[in-house]
Amino acid sequence: MNELTPEQAELLAAAAAARERAYCPYSRFAVGAAVRTASGASFYGCNIENAAYPSTICAERVALFSAYAAGERAIVALAVIADTPEPVTPCGGCRQVMFELAPRAVVILANLRGAWRITSVEDLLPAGFALIDR
Ligand code: THU
Repeated sequence: MNELTPEQAELLAAAAAARERAYCPYSRFAVGAAVRTASGASFYGCNIENAAYPSTICAERVALFSAYAAGERAIVALAVIADTPEPVTPCGGCRQVMFELAPRAVVILANLRGAWRITSVEDLLPAGFALIDR
């Protein structure tokens, strides 16, 4: 695919806007995420760090948990953006969360320089761990 659809571009712009709200005084590495659900609703996330470092939460999880907390579970797309040389690549923990909460999502990974790639949760985490049928 050479171009994002207008909907994908809009979701990516929303992720970039969410990134501006990152709370990352320790790493100074800001990440933004946005998810779109089947109902057409969008939810946003940024990384939120803590002085107790493991209490930090990634942007992807904030966006996914926000959708679930609103009762929206049919995640159709997830966009993630950070200031990286190549499109940002989600951490392993977030891949596992995507595997359970958004298994069929189209995943748009991007950086601030305009580079992006489209992938899937299956590509990001083949044979993820599951305890329940999905
Ligand atoms: N981070 C994310 O928000 N998403 C990722 O996929 C990778 C890492 C955040 C966590 C932490 O606040 C900072 O980036 C540096 O690891």
